[in-house]
Amino acid sequence: MSAIKIAPSILASDFARLGEEVSAICEAGCDYVHVDVMDGHFVPNITIGPSVVKALKPHSTKPFDVHLMISPVDPYIADFAEAGADIVTFHPEAGHHPHRTIQSIKAAGCKAGLSLNPGTPLEMLWPLLGDLDLVLVMSVNPGFGGQSFIESQLARIETIRKRIDAEGLDIELEVDGGINFETAPRAITAGANVLVAGTATFKGGPSAYASNIAALRDEK
Ligand code: DX5
Ligand code: ZN
Repeated sequence: MSAIKIAPSILASDFARLGEEVSAICEAGCDYVHVDVMDGHFVPNITIGPSVVKALKPHSTKPFDVHLMISPVDPYIADFAEAGADIVTFHPEAGHHPHRTIQSIKAAGCKAGLSLNPGTPLEMLWPLLGDLDLVLVMSVNPGFGGQSFIESQLARIETIRKRIDAEGLDIELEVDGGINFETAPRAITAGANVLVAGTATFKGGPSAYASNIAALRDEK
């Protein structure tokens, strides 16, 4: 399996200093900048949109991993691509035609990810697997940072990892929600290679980011 990547969720950063926070996590050694986009409709919370992504892009030296928790998705793909998204991940429940959404994301020049809620059947993933660049397993219900890791998702990560490897696919397997120094090694053992971590990255302020990221990456 490829090396472990850390994708800090800026949802847990200081929103009054977003540009500085993005620079700080890049300097601290993160692999992706995870941007949680919420619309108050698909999930209860409202966060940020393409204009903020565009404003943050010059502050980053790492790819933008944009997690869309919005419905519909298709009308906004071009906006996020133009704003600087490198990976665009969406939820299959957010539209009627997930295969078409994947095609649209790729046509916009981005890598395509599919995100599975804790209750989303894996059957929704399998027909699309070969078209994806990334699978995101939600280990909390989407909408908020700082929630507790849902244990049942470890077995799903294992199942997806086996299938990716059996089919010889070049797909990242990302886990998002409740990742900390205790759950990170378990998610890695289950087969995840990208860890989203909001609370665990930003805890302790900028002077702690490098050690937090290193600790999340190194725990196996
Ligand atoms: C939840 C978001 C997550 C969340 C992670 O809807 O997709 O990225 O911010 O936060 P922590 O790491 O604090 O659980
Ligand atoms: Zn996320």
